Parts: sequence; structure tokens; C-alpha cells
Amino acid sequence: MLNTRNENNDNRMDKIVSLCKRRGFVYPGSEIYGGLANSWDFGPPGVELKNNIKQLWWKFFVQSRENIVGLESTIIMNNKVWEASGHLQEFNDMLAECQSCRQRFRVDDLDNLKECPECRGPLLKPRQFHTMFKTNLGPIEGNEVYLRPETAQGMFVDFKQLQNSSRQKIPFGVAQIGKAFRNEITPGNFIFRLREFEQMEIEYFVREKDWQEGFDYWLLEMKKWLQMIGVKDINLHFHEISPEERAHYSKKTIDIEYAYPFGTKELYGLAYRTDYDLWRHQEKSGRELTSFDEVTQGKFIPHIIEPTFGVERTMLVLLLEAYEEEKDRVVLRLKPKLAPYKAAVFPLLANKPPLVEAARKIYNDLRQDFMVAWDERGNIGKRYFSQDEIGTPFCITVDFDSLEKNDVTVRDRDTMKQERIKIEVLKEYLREKLE
Ligand code: GAP
Repeated sequence: MLNTRNENNDNRMDKIVSLCKRRGFVYPGSEIYGGLANSWDFGPPGVELKNNIKQLWWKFFVQSRENIVGLESTIIMNNKVWEASGHLQEFNDMLAECQSCRQRFRVDDLDNLKECPECRGPLLKPRQFHTMFKTNLGPIEGNEVYLRPETAQGMFVDFKQLQNSSRQKIPFGVAQIGKAFRNEITPGNFIFRLREFEQMEIEYFVREKDWQEGFDYWLLEMKKWLQMIGVKDINLHFHEISPEERAHYSKKTIDIEYAYPFGTKELYGLAYRTDYDLWRHQEKSGRELTSFDEVTQGKFIPHIIEPTFGVERTMLVLLLEAYEEEKDRVVLRLKPKLAPYKAAVFPLLANKPPLVEAARKIYNDLRQDFMVAWDERGNIGKRYFSQDEIGTPFCITVDFDSLEKNDVTVRDRDTMKQERIKIEVLKEYLREKLE
């Protein structure tokens, strides 16, 4: 299996998991009750990192483009949506079960379909396993509905509303960030494969003749995004999915894969969904889901290019890319825009009220504009170490000179260099550096 990393990969993954737990990025969900298999909660720095990923994504893909608009549709939708989309019939994984130890595996993950990889016992004939989550709507038993397995369908079902209310003309796109749920047979590899996760998706509506151009354009934009967030090219692999392996709705799919420590696997996807979804919803709902062509004065059903991104996979990749061990410290070299905290403020000594007071004033002021951490424990060296480990780009120390000269020491995470900055220009300084 392709894997471009040459360091001790298992070890690296263990270190990331341990850092995440120790520093509160990610920890097991429901832990006081013994946990719930493969559920993870995102603690203070984790939720900041996730939010920064989503905000930056929205800025890059929505805010900065005049022909992409946003949507937030529901997680639970009318069952007819899933009948029309094909998910009720097609959203299955092949499952193989061991006759001896009863462990279950995704067929995709097995090299040998006859022998259990755990106990070497015989595997039963693979069968289909439907991976949509079911729940009940209202007080009546049997009123079953599903949790969405992709955010995409809301953008198809609302197509007409979106087109009319935004006054967009083809080509245009709709973006949505939200939770998706899949009853995965084997979740795992930390936050790589989850049952509850977040997607950031774009559905880009084009004329059929323009699909290839649209596809190439979005592939390039996805590459730009990866570069912007700091993912090295050498760890990426672009894999065109064969017709047999493609999702039921797709005529061309490229998976953007990443060389994780546990193997090269999907990070993002780009699919040409043809006019499949809009046709199916038009047919099933009886509502017209067309666009008007001003040149031919005729109606047509748009075709769709879909770039799709997982939030948690992005987070995992960013942590893997950013993690570095140096002689005296561990440092997360996250891009400053993505770092959970932009700065940390320290009084040089915690037992000197004038220092604490002056530092608190700066902390409270900076917090109006940036996510800022506070630390007064231990010595300065330990505080630097602690902030480096969670990727804080700047540490600001208030010392006795600060009281007289109205300045502070700003220490840079990457260069470890320090400089004196006047308090009155501190915000300006940070803003410039964070750009
Ligand atoms: N709308 C198309 C779609 O849902 P997908 O490849 O099945 O396509 C899109 O999922 C993205 O969602 C993936 O590229 C991945 O980043 C993320 N993803 C999918 N399943 C996931 C899971 N079980 N856990 C975490 N992320 C997942």
C-alpha cells in the first residue's frame, strides 16, 4: 500500500491520540459510563480547531465566490428523499462475519475473504449491511425515519428554492456544513472513520456540456485549499475510482487520499453526479427541478459536480502534518489561522498583583478580537512548552519593564524569537502576523 511517510507511523498516531487526550482536543465520549464505542468528544482546543477549519472553508469556498450560496437543511428528511436518492436501496457496505469469534469486518478492509484476520477462523459468506441510521419520528412506534448519511440531499431537494431566492444562474453552487451519520461496520483509527461526523459539501450545478470543465476547476480549487491549510503534496494521492467501485450516482470520482500512519486512505472526494439526483427527485416529487436557458429559451436539468470534505478527517490530517518533536519540546506547527488559540498571555510572576492585573487587562482586551489563552502556572519555559504543544503562535509576557514602558515580550512559536511590542499596537501586530 502506498505510504510516503518514512518515520515510525504507528508511534506517530499514538502520540497524536495521546496529545489530543492530554490537552483536551479529543477524548472518548460518555467516558464516565465506560464510554460508547468509537464516540469522541471535542474539548476546548478541539472545538476551536474544528470551528477554524469550518470558518476558513466557508470563507474560501463561499464568501469569496459570488456564485456559491449557503444552506442549512435538516438532518431528518422525508423518507421519500432517500427512496429517490437511492440510499434506501444502495447505501450498503459488504460485511463479513467470523464463524468462530463473531467479529465483523468490512469486506473492503480484508485481503482474504475466507479467513478471519483476528482468530484465523472461517469467515461466513459476505452479506450486505445497510449503513443508514434509523430513528422514530414522534410518539408512534414504527414511524421510522433516517438520519442523513450525507448533507448533499438537502441541496438537491431545495434546488428550486435556492435558485429562485438567490437569483443565481447556472453555473452556480450551494454549500453546506453539517452532521452526517453512518452506521459504519468498523469505525476506528481514532477520528478517521466515525459514525457521527461533519461534512463540508458543495453541489455545483452546470450544463451537461460543461461538466468536465467544472470537474477540473474544482479539483484545482481543492488542491489550493489543501495547500492553504498546510497539507504537503507528498502525502497526497489522487485516485480515480473504477466504475465498479463508484457510488451509484457517480460517472466519475476522484478520491483525494492521504498517507495516514495506518495506510493511504480517503481524505476528500470529487464526484460528477450527472443529473441523477435532480432527475430522481423531480420524478419522485412530481415537482419541476429545472433551470431556464436564456439562449435556447428552453428548460433543462442541471448536472452536478460535488467536491466533498470531512471535517474530522481534515482535523486529523492537520494534526499529523503539524506535529513535530524537537530536542526540548513538542510543537504543533498549525497555520496561525487554524491554531485554536492565536496567543497566550502570561504575567511573569503569578504572585505579583501589579503584573497579574496588567496582564489580565491585556488578556481581556485581546479576547474581544482573538481567541486567547491565559496561563500563570509554573515558570515561563513550561508555559511556552505548554502552548507550543497546542500550536499557539504567540506568547505574550508581562514583566516589570512592561509596567514602566507599556510594552510586552512577544515570543514566536516557530522561531522562538522574542521581541518587545508596545501594548497599544499589540492587536495590530497580531492581526498582521496572523494574516
Ligand atoms: N456526498 C458525497 C459523500 O458523502 P463520501 O465519500 O461518502 O461522499 C464524503 O463522504 C466525505 O465525508 C469523505 O471524503 C470523508 O472526508 C467524510 N467521511 C465519510 N465517511 C466518514 C466517516 N465514517 N467518518 C468520518 N468522515 C467520513
